[in-house]
Amino acid sequence: MKMKIIIGILLCLVLYLQDVVTIDLPIGPSFVSTITTKQKLYYNNLGIRLDCSANGTPLPKLTWFRTNGSDDRPSTFVQSSELIHVYQNGSLYIRPFRNYQKSLHAGTFVCRAENAAGSIQTTPIQLKPRE
Ligand SMILES: *[C@@H]1O[C@H](CO)[C@@H](O)[C@H](O)[C@H]1NC(C)=O
Ligand SMILES: *[C@@H]1O[C@H](CO)[C@@H](O)[C@H](O)[C@H]1NC(C)=O
Repeated sequence: MKMKIIIGILLCLVLYLQDVVTIDLPIGPSFVSTITTKQKLYYNNLGIRLDCSANGTPLPKLTWFRTNGSDDRPSTFVQSSELIHVYQNGSLYIRPFRNYQKSLHAGTFVCRAENAAGSIQTTPIQLKPRE
């Protein structure tokens, strides 16, 4: 009887230690869902939200870039401003606007997910506002 208890305690200890020493190996990012439409029209009085979320270990960092018209490579990092908001959860939100600024409200965007194991990016999404 006592023996069983001792073995039980030892087993618990072993399981506990295994749990403690488990190291998560890095796993490259993968997108949870991807936007498949290449072009999106939106109304300037509504604005538009583009979502981006990815899995991976460690949790990937999500960033948005504009591409340079002539190729699809990310060129300009999109920062939050009064007109565009980039949320912690990876969503990009172009606020409703009255005064169109081509360099902000139109163009091609890509989301990049990056962690220690690698980085991936979405297919470019072209945004076109209209009234
Ligand atoms: C786009 O990239 C090309 C090649 O790298 C460069 O020649 C061109 O000036 C860039 N255009 C803009 C608008 O940055
Ligand atoms: C991300 O956060 C913003 C602000 O809280 C929210 O409006 C948006 O719905 C979130 N995105 C997703 C995909 O849940």
